[in-house]
Amino acid sequence: MATLGVFLDSGVLFRVLRRRRVFEAVHLYEPAAREFGLNLVLFRPRGLSRRRRRVRGYSVPGFRPVSVPIPEVVHNRTLQSASSRSGVRWLQARGVHVFNPIVPASKHAKHLLLNRSAEVRPYLPSAFRLAPGWPARLETLQRRSGQFFVKPSFGSRGQGVIRIASAGGGRYRVDGVRHRVVGRRGLRRCVRQAARRGPHILQEGIELARYQGQPFDIRVHLQRGEGGHWNVPGMAARRAHSGRFVTNLTRGGSAHRVREVLAAAFPGTDRERIYEHIEQASLAVGRAMASSYPRVADLGLDVGLDRDAHPWILEVNLRMLRLSLRDTGEHEAWARVYRNPVAYAHHLLTTGGHMGEAGTT
Ligand SMILES: Nc1ncnc2c1ncn2[C@@H]1O[C@H](COP(=O)(O)OP(=O)(O)O)[C@@H](O)[C@H]1O
Ligand SMILES: [Mg+2]
Repeated sequence: MATLGVFLDSGVLFRVLRRRRVFEAVHLYEPAAREFGLNLVLFRPRGLSRRRRRVRGYSVPGFRPVSVPIPEVVHNRTLQSASSRSGVRWLQARGVHVFNPIVPASKHAKHLLLNRSAEVRPYLPSAFRLAPGWPARLETLQRRSGQFFVKPSFGSRGQGVIRIASAGGGRYRVDGVRHRVVGRRGLRRCVRQAARRGPHILQEGIELARYQGQPFDIRVHLQRGEGGHWNVPGMAARRAHSGRFVTNLTRGGSAHRVREVLAAAFPGTDRERIYEHIEQASLAVGRAMASSYPRVADLGLDVGLDRDAHPWILEVNLRMLRLSLRDTGEHEAWARVYRNPVAYAHHLLTTGGHMGEAGTT
């Protein structure tokens, strides 16, 4: 029986072993592993015994310490730390099928990659790197909604995200940790301050549709599964906390069932059509990512809808935190999130990873 290794960061692995509430529900891998006839081992970067060519990890079920030969296929769920990157490279050099690979993580790099895809472009807000000369390019970002976003290129969880909207008469409303209205010089000062904290991108702002009076966006889980095909196991809507403009759950956002939110936000519109439109846009993102990084298999998209229900790809996360579907109680969708990687592992093992790599469905 072949072994599927699940590669986790140490901190996450230990919380799993202590059965702490964590975003990895590893027990959900189990029924899928039985279905596809795979052994499961959880391991962390330090579990690689490079000289002995073995992996020390923990069995699922049971979480017993085990030592096994290098797994044939590895589901990489680590963040891209130095030790996990080196582990991934070492495994790849041994011929192990590793999904997900190491991918440039900056928001700017991902924007450039997606912007190359003609089928993604209609869903991609304009964006560019914050660099000298940025004020001259502002107009393209404000064209549609009169607002733009400044975001740390390596940020997450809504940290450091600033929204800037024109307030008329050459004034701008700046919403970040604080709210203020400034003139052109004040605006330049705010943006320069952000630039000092590291690389940032400027992105066209989308006037997000609202639910219960607050803006919302949609977390789309996007994965490859059976046959190597891209699919969307589930989506969850995230509504901003009142007075906030970011929907991140770590910033007070709340998770809601997507169909309920679509029905409420767009009364009189066919919500299934909106759902499918979001799905189509997301699948295009999967194909674009995979054309540069063939074994990308696990993405979390932040998709905003404007007032016309047109989807906009606000962000592509390389390792999605899998909270939202649990929070909305969509257990079947949540189970699919864990079945997909096992199905994909099985696909890689049976085809050697040569077929369906560009998986188009
Ligand atoms: N261009 C945009 N237009 C409207 N809202 C946005 C835009 N970009 C980000 N947001 C809001 O800010 C949140 C955080 O931005 P995001 O790019 O996802 O950064 P992070 O990596 O911190 O999650 C999004 O979930 C969304 O609610
Ligand atoms: Mg985000």
